[in-house]
Amino acid sequence: MHSRRILAGMCSVGTTLAGQLHFISEEICLRSPLSPSQCRLSGPDGFHHGLMQSTHDIGGSTAAPPFSWDFKPRCVTASDPEDDEPYCLYSSHSFAGGRGISIVTTPDRIESILQMSAFAQSNSSHDLNTQATPPFEERELPGRGRGLIANKTVLRGDRLFAYTPVLLLDDEAYEALSEEEWIDLETAAVEQLPAATRAEFWKLYGQPLGNPVSDRINTNAFEIETADGTYYGVFPEIARLNHDCRPNAAYFFDQQSFTHYVHVVTTVAPGTELTITYVDPHMSRSQRRRQLSSSWGFECSCSLCTAHPSLGQESDSRLKQINALNEKLEKSSALGSSDAARALISLYEQERIHAAASTAHRFAAKAFCAEGRRWETIAHARLATELTMLDEGFHDEEVGAMRRLAEEPHTQSCWPGVAPPNATIEAAWAGNFL
Ligand SMILES: *[C@@H]1O[C@H](CO)[C@@H](O)[C@H](O)[C@H]1NC(C)=O
Ligand SMILES: *[C@@H]1O[C@H](CO)[C@@H](O)[C@H](O)[C@H]1NC(C)=O
Repeated sequence: MHSRRILAGMCSVGTTLAGQLHFISEEICLRSPLSPSQCRLSGPDGFHHGLMQSTHDIGGSTAAPPFSWDFKPRCVTASDPEDDEPYCLYSSHSFAGGRGISIVTTPDRIESILQMSAFAQSNSSHDLNTQATPPFEERELPGRGRGLIANKTVLRGDRLFAYTPVLLLDDEAYEALSEEEWIDLETAAVEQLPAATRAEFWKLYGQPLGNPVSDRINTNAFEIETADGTYYGVFPEIARLNHDCRPNAAYFFDQQSFTHYVHVVTTVAPGTELTITYVDPHMSRSQRRRQLSSSWGFECSCSLCTAHPSLGQESDSRLKQINALNEKLEKSSALGSSDAARALISLYEQERIHAAASTAHRFAAKAFCAEGRRWETIAHARLATELTMLDEGFHDEEVGAMRRLAEEPHTQSCWPGVAPPNATIEAAWAGNFL
């Protein structure tokens, strides 16, 4: 449940792997009523979208040049008369230093996407989308296809990936358009990518169900939740990570930099496969198996799925207790809940769920704060800060709250005797949790 929380505010995003989203289809070019030219690769036509220019006035004298699209946006209006908003394909070859991007969304939403800092410079300025010496090798794994194996010890916080999407597709367009319209836009989105990026896309494995573009997108897309809506993002490099029910890496999408980050969340020995979870780790064994099989077409072979039924049952009982405790602690601010929070931390450890345990440490920090226990508050708030960054993003609102709590517990509103938030402006600024 925590991996796909939707929060208010522009910086708040969550991602999950999208899985098999939708229908199976024939190759669109074989049956599309659209003219055949739309199925062929079309080159940049020199079109520049003038509308966007005003959105990049970032103040000061160093305003970046306006972002421009390399193709005339191709728009489709849904046949549903209730829905007269067009869905358009926008493609750029220069985005992220030549990696390029294709986005399918509404003209309204593309405006707010263009506000993100990633679009303010024509070049990405930091070390994104490259990987000089990754701490892993890609290897053939018996019975598992290819996977990424750590070739040195990696530690909590070590970065595995930081990549911008090559495709970003609006779920609302998927819901509103007909199957053929949607596949046509998906196909054009891939065709309009720069050649090298397109080649990376075609290297992806797609569960073979019908259309080769859709198959690749459906198998590999991450679901990205933003304040504006839900998108499906494709990051070819990151798609090489396999699933494990108890993964050693976690990911999030940073909306401002338009970057999907993957970090290690626990100590990983050389020779160990690096993994993420494709499903919510709070799911029971049978739910997990069902979803992995229906969405990605594989039998769950992680150690928890293959464990003896008695051990599987034990894990399910722990998960049930974890879910119940999360619910209880979400509601309560009662004294004594630090014991419950500590039990929750222990259950997460027993279950080997590392990243999502950030919530347990947040509960513990707040509960110890309410009990006026400074040192325990600091210890849990510090760990919660880091785990929340790795699991929810650097700019998640809980990161700021936990950092303040770790630095000055006695000034926060959870501390005994401190005025509740909005009693005074200062208190409201000081911290607004609990
Ligand atoms: C922009 O990107 C190009 C090619 O990717 C590179 O040669 C150039 O140095 C970059 N400029 C800046 C300011 O980063
Ligand atoms: C691990 O493998 C990568 C190639 O994927 C290589 O670039 C890197 O140097 C290797 N590191 C070690 C420590 O062998």
